[in-house]
Amino acid sequence: MDGPLLIDRLALDPDAERRDVMARLLREPASISPKYFYDEVGCSLYGAICRLPEYYPTRTEVALFQARRGEIASVIGTGRQFVDLGAGDCCKAKGWLPFLAPARYVAVDIAVQEIAAALEKMAADFPGLELVGLATDFSRALDLEGVLSQVPALFFYPGSSIGNFTPDEARVFLARIQGHCASRPGSSLLIGVDGKKPKAVLDAAYDDALGVTAAFNRNALRHLNDRFGLDFDVGAFAHVGFYNEAEGRIEMHLESVRDQVVRVDGQARSFRRGERIHTENSYKYAPAEFEGVLRDAGFAAIRRWDAPDVAYSVFHAA
Ligand code: AVJ
Repeated sequence: MDGPLLIDRLALDPDAERRDVMARLLREPASISPKYFYDEVGCSLYGAICRLPEYYPTRTEVALFQARRGEIASVIGTGRQFVDLGAGDCCKAKGWLPFLAPARYVAVDIAVQEIAAALEKMAADFPGLELVGLATDFSRALDLEGVLSQVPALFFYPGSSIGNFTPDEARVFLARIQGHCASRPGSSLLIGVDGKKPKAVLDAAYDDALGVTAAFNRNALRHLNDRFGLDFDVGAFAHVGFYNEAEGRIEMHLESVRDQVVRVDGQARSFRRGERIHTENSYKYAPAEFEGVLRDAGFAAIRRWDAPDVAYSVFHAA
């Protein structure tokens, strides 16, 4: 069998991407899309975050999947095309493959080198499985044109990454997935969603004692310098990460530690001391709340598994 097929739709419109980055930096308040966390350094830092004692989502979800694997797999069924949204190192998918015996595996991620390397390894571990990599920014649009086959699909969206969308954006995104499901009967979605919990627990998870999340956040500036030739002084921005209870979301910001000026597309963008660049939202959902989001997106058959110890849920929706 041929090696993994890699489809790169990242650089479809580099000028538009650049304009968007600069416009967001020039706006007040400034913001950076969380997708810029995930260059090679950022992927490593995220891997480290997932191992931190304060960051409970990954280990909670892994344990929940492990405990309920057979039960969940029997709800999904075998022979689907496994569409891994935000596949990263493809680690989370691997545990499912023996249970789901997929017809093909489609890894979708913005981190092109990471999925390319992961698929090479998978080719050795799962000979005979058709492997496809799709490098794309699905935070903008889930473009699966020409990538999916007509086989029923399982959309796998673990890790509570859905939290990066606002609830309204999440409805739109999930409705797109529901549309792909509707045109291939037998298709479904398996998604992990982080729950609302005490502020102290959430604050610690996004502002850990080692400062790994701080490095992950500030790395977005280093990445932008690298990618767009900007001159951010990475050391002059401090990590701010906290749970905004009223909005039901984690917010991450980079706070200027002094008055400073950054050249943004030929313009001088001054940041006052204390001024913040918003880098991420991570929405948390009560189980019933997220069930409503799935229903709004058009899913009718919904099942849910809750982690025993921490507020974290996995939903299957068809
Ligand atoms: C990858 C979006 C699920 O929101 O928990 C981790 C990213 N940011 N620590 C999350 C993240 C800071 C993570 N997601």
